[in-house]
Amino acid sequence: MTVFLIVGLPGAGKTTRARELEAERSALRLTPDEWQMAVFDRDSPTRWRSAERAAHRDRLEGKLIEIGLRAADLGLDVVLDFGFWGTDERSALRWIAAARGLRTEVVYLPIGYDEQRRRITARSGGDPAQFEMSDAELRQWHTRFQAPDVDELRDGTIPAVPAGHASWAAWARARWPSWRPGQG
Ligand SMILES: Nc1ncnc2c1ncn2[C@@H]1O[C@H](COP(=O)(O)OP(=O)(O)O)[C@@H](O)[C@H]1O
Ligand SMILES: [Mg+2]
Repeated sequence: MTVFLIVGLPGAGKTTRARELEAERSALRLTPDEWQMAVFDRDSPTRWRSAERAAHRDRLEGKLIEIGLRAADLGLDVVLDFGFWGTDERSALRWIAAARGLRTEVVYLPIGYDEQRRRITARSGGDPAQFEMSDAELRQWHTRFQAPDVDELRDGTIPAVPAGHASWAAWARARWPSWRPGQG
């Protein structure tokens, strides 16, 4: 089974690609934005970026990872439509998946600022349920985003665990506090 890690900034076309994979592969698509909007449906368009929501988001993602890994164990391809801005996030999931005999594929959707701004503005179209994103935020996120390297895209060697963590599983437990390895 393959676990697809969909990587890219907002507006890059991640969910569009994830839906294509869902249809092509009869895969289980897990898109945390949909869960966040469904659970916190009364949020203002800017509330999503608060520290409290960021923590909720991490906890949602941890449970979606559990479900995704469990589904892959049961024989489904899985699409994690998370964005995965950090190399370490991708390395952790590549390692965790490999340890249970699952393939991973990093699907990277690059996007430049101008096209990104156009798409996000067109997508929101005044819909207050969409997350609001300012020009300054979009520009800042480009500097934070860590694009996958050739090794990641070819499913090459997984880098060593960052100092201070006993294993990639321990790193993942710190990154996604709700994730319980035993449950998925
Ligand atoms: N390859 C593409 N070319 C042009 N527009 C696209 C492309 N992929 C997605 N879009 C459009 O851009 C917007 C953002 O796409 P989406 O898949 O929601 O991005 P993300 O999930 O990365 O935020 C949507 O309105 C979508 O229809
Ligand atoms: Mg999306």
